[in-house]
Amino acid sequence: MGCSSDNSTNSSDAPANNAFDLSSVFNINFNVLPNYSDQYIPVYITKDNSPTNNPISNEGATLGRVLFYDVNVSTNNEISCASCHKQEFAFSDDNAVSIGVDGITGRHSMRLVNVRFANENRFFWDERANSLEQQTTMPIQDHVEMGFSGENGDLNFEDLVTKLEAIEYYPELFNLAFGSSEISELKIQNALAQFIRSIQSFDSKYDEGRLLTANNAQPFPNFTAQENNGKNLFLQPPVFDTMGSRINGGIGCAGCHQAPEFDIDPNSLNNGVIGTASGTGVDFTVTRAPSLRDVLKSNGDANGPFMHIGVSTNIMTVLNHYDNINIAANTNLDPRLTPGGNPQQLNMTAQEKDAVQVFLQTLAGNEIYTDPKWSNPFIN
Ligand code: HEC
Ligand code: HEC
Repeated sequence: MGCSSDNSTNSSDAPANNAFDLSSVFNINFNVLPNYSDQYIPVYITKDNSPTNNPISNEGATLGRVLFYDVNVSTNNEISCASCHKQEFAFSDDNAVSIGVDGITGRHSMRLVNVRFANENRFFWDERANSLEQQTTMPIQDHVEMGFSGENGDLNFEDLVTKLEAIEYYPELFNLAFGSSEISELKIQNALAQFIRSIQSFDSKYDEGRLLTANNAQPFPNFTAQENNGKNLFLQPPVFDTMGSRINGGIGCAGCHQAPEFDIDPNSLNNGVIGTASGTGVDFTVTRAPSLRDVLKSNGDANGPFMHIGVSTNIMTVLNHYDNINIAANTNLDPRLTPGGNPQQLNMTAQEKDAVQVFLQTLAGNEIYTDPKWSNPFIN
């Protein structure tokens, strides 16, 4: 769709004068841009970390989409944001670590789903980016990821700006988005952040059920008994004995992965996964996870391996981790996982684990994987 090759005559909606014909490069209808700025947001979604000075516009998100998929944004013209954030995996990577312009990343790529609908507004697994705007140009300036680091002989960010100025479609797209063809780091950040904030997922089975009920705690009429059981386990806190062994209640996931957005509690410390992707050393700094929406597809397949180290694609591995927390030498472990100072033991039965797995499957949306407005806009 959208690739009408009606270029035999200069049609009346062709750009004026010598302006570059964007429709020769992009699968985008520039007369009617896709809707990024006014999407449906369910009434029960209340968290929103959008800054007031960078609201989503259709033009800004369209520029962001082009930048996101453009390999010209890397030094070797081979890597785009989408190389590591793939739409078919909810904008994560099916590989445990991702390939950049000069080697592999130190951590697993993160899903970009409902990034906007969260209390936490610092980004990366260790929250080292203070805003999404700031985050977006960090991979560009990373020596391994996209290469414009300005260090050790790498080109720098100004070199990227010069490069984009010479690419025929960019002056026009910046003009469309920001009313002037001048290119700057701030505009690149704003456009990428608008595109990422536009990526949302609210058409899951969970959303269908949540819409039909007054609150999360009620059984969802569209859920099976097993899914409702999994929901209760996820939402309710555990009741522990004095040794940290669960004797009743749920398994406490929602204490940190907060429904209905399933965003991370900004106060979360680490969850006991302290390894590194390379297998050497320890990493106590990880205190963030992407929303757990679309961590699994509705058929149970994982959207890439879990956690910052990409441990496994089997949710049972995750549940076994929380079932028996390892506290050894971990100075940054969240106290919710050490009731009474003891490592938590959830004592989950096989049925309980299966129920949590099917509940997590209900958090998967549909359009996020297929909507063309979040897909590669380049014709070639
Ligand atoms: C070479 C692979 C690679 C490329 C290219 C890449 N990323 Fe990432 N991305 C990652 C990895 C790995 C992480 C997690 C890194 C960490 O936390 O240390 C990440 C994290 C992020 C996050 C944080 C999400 C969150 O919830 O905190 C955002 C946003 C993001 N990337 C956007 C982008 C954008 C925009 C681009 C292009 C300008 C891009 N990425 C290019 C691999 C990549
Ligand atoms: C104390 C806070 C806390 C609690 C309680 C908690 N988590 Fe987490 N969770 C985290 C943090 C922090 C991460 C990121 C850890 C990492 O990557 O090293 C995470 C990561 C995950 C991931 C991987 C996400 C991804 O994108 O790869 C899954 C799945 C998950 N948790 C499920 C659960 C389930 C199920 C429960 C309940 C048994 C639970 N969590 C309880 C804090 C918590």
